[in-house]
Amino acid sequence: MLVHLLIALCCALMTAGSLATAPSSHARTAIDARHAQLGGAGGRLGPPTGAEFCGLRNGGCQRNYQRGVIVWSPATGAQPSYGAIGQTWRAHGSRNGRFGYPTGPEVCGLRGGGCYQNYQGGSIIWSPTTGARISVGAIRARWASTNFENGALGYPISDESCSAGACKQRYQRGVITWTARGGTVLSRDIDVAASSVVVVNKRRMLNPAGYTPGPLVNVGGSLLRSDAAQQFTRLLADARAAGVAMVPVSGYRSFATQASLYASYVNRYGQARADLISARPGYSEHQTGLAIDIGNRNGSCGLQECFAGTPAGAWAAQNAWRYGFIIRYPQGRTSTTGYAYEPWHLRYVGTTISSEMRAHRLPTLEHYLSIPAAPSY
Ligand code: DAL
Ligand code: ZN
Repeated sequence: MLVHLLIALCCALMTAGSLATAPSSHARTAIDARHAQLGGAGGRLGPPTGAEFCGLRNGGCQRNYQRGVIVWSPATGAQPSYGAIGQTWRAHGSRNGRFGYPTGPEVCGLRGGGCYQNYQGGSIIWSPTTGARISVGAIRARWASTNFENGALGYPISDESCSAGACKQRYQRGVITWTARGGTVLSRDIDVAASSVVVVNKRRMLNPAGYTPGPLVNVGGSLLRSDAAQQFTRLLADARAAGVAMVPVSGYRSFATQASLYASYVNRYGQARADLISARPGYSEHQTGLAIDIGNRNGSCGLQECFAGTPAGAWAAQNAWRYGFIIRYPQGRTSTTGYAYEPWHLRYVGTTISSEMRAHRLPTLEHYLSIPAAPSY
């Protein structure tokens, strides 16, 4: 005990002494050591772009590098800042903002290739599909209690936002809200994950394979489930009002219809190509009553990639999300969806999800729900 006290006393005195005599040289040594640890001029930060400067908040110093900075303060030591997390920290006022100084370096290797960095005022967490999000205060504490990104909620997909005394943050599979009176409340997307967001892909067959949806509604000759039909009717009317002659081409398809469609593609193109453009029976979103293929009234670029550049294709890409639809098979995402680009295939997911996917640039339903890609059967 006595030994501990003596060591604590000695080190406190040493720290105080070195701070009092030469704060900037102490900082410089620590900053240089951190830079070297990150690979020096050839490493993560690159070469310095200027000299170290001091006199910052709480006695801090900083040095800028080609791809980031190292900030030092007596309380936090020398810590780097770079990349998407560094950008978010800067957007919140860097060391002078709510986060203050970083208390450690960026740490990576989280689930799905994520990284985080801790600061005096909270943390910033990033993943390739959800971007860099802030995580602070009581909402962070509640999220921590669910085991962070490894738990039921997954990564945050929004920053915490507050209005009228209530704060909330949205995660991949739920929301945490906070009020001074009620504390935090966690609500998981059980209903969404389990029912209204049906995921049908090459790894998720309909169950049962011959599933038929509830009441179907006829919209311009195509059938859709009533919630999707209602929104699609609005979408068509608004497109028309904007001078775009959009027409429905194919909505609900039964197991039997899909079977003959798929067989005809195999006949014409062979199985490999057929699998890239058509689902096998029991695996098509069209069988849920939530998918609709659209076209131009004059038929231009019907069911072809060039549809994206036509009035109906361009309007849908811009506006379908407002009605709760997504382009389910986007360009360049075959490794996730298993299908070629289908700018005409709209999938109803509801406006909450379509808005979030758009806001966070989540390209597919698989990304949104953090579920495995389905490139093949
Ligand atoms: N063309 C889509 C993938 C389907 O057949 O469901
Ligand atoms: Zn389709």
